[in-house]
Amino acid sequence: MEVVIVPDAKAGGELIAGAMAQLLLDKPTALLGVATGSTPLPIYQALAAQVAAGAVDVSRARIAQLDEYVGLPAEHPESYRSVLRREVLEPLGIGMDAFFGPDGTAEDVRGACEAYDRALAEAGGVDLQLLGIGTDGHIGFNEPCSSLASRTRIKTLTEQTRVDNARFFDGDIGQVPHHVITQGIGTILEARHLVLLATGEGKADAVAATVEGPVAAVCPASALQLHAHATVVVDEGAAAKLKHADYFRHTFVNKPAWQGI
Ligand code: F6R
Repeated sequence: MEVVIVPDAKAGGELIAGAMAQLLLDKPTALLGVATGSTPLPIYQALAAQVAAGAVDVSRARIAQLDEYVGLPAEHPESYRSVLRREVLEPLGIGMDAFFGPDGTAEDVRGACEAYDRALAEAGGVDLQLLGIGTDGHIGFNEPCSSLASRTRIKTLTEQTRVDNARFFDGDIGQVPHHVITQGIGTILEARHLVLLATGEGKADAVAATVEGPVAAVCPASALQLHAHATVVVDEGAAAKLKHADYFRHTFVNKPAWQGI
């Protein structure tokens, strides 16, 4: 995998938005897989700025959701569908008709998960999947010890993840759902390009395990090592525990510009 160390979150957002813009130039109908949480916000802001400046055309782009809370009505402000509408679709001017996501309120949860995997495949697969990382190494909401071959399914959030996410629910952990539908690790690995952004020292251990540890279900993000085109973008804080940081810096500085990320 490629590791790019950037000075700060804004620079990471701009780098990744640039890669998305290039993809959209090459393939205007690209299916972009998006994550929620705090980390990807600088990416969405940078991409929206490029769209506003007329530098990128997203009129034919499509957006796919990575995960969704189970049981939160779609119109709940913290359902991931609502969050993505607010933070991605509206700023980019993309309509809900170009949006793919699992139904977190379905009575038949298993059927909804299978239907979502089918919908992604029928749409031609995800071209670029954005990922954040949990302090416990989760991607999507594949918590530690998730199968590396898993498909979209229901998962139970760890207590740590619920504590981390309580900030989106007025700090009240009681409001944070226990369950989510998440793309499985096997599903995520089918995207053509995986781009993980991690910022802040709180992610340093998880990033080190992802990049320099063994491929192991105990750190779900380590599955990125199995992907032919995975890019991990980290700020200095998240890079703090990487033993090979100097090599990663050297590689990026000397990379031919035409290669992109
Ligand atoms: C959210 C998701 C999660 C987050 C992760 C980090 O859709 O898939 O894996 O990316 O929990 O969240 P933040 O960015 O808020 O630290």
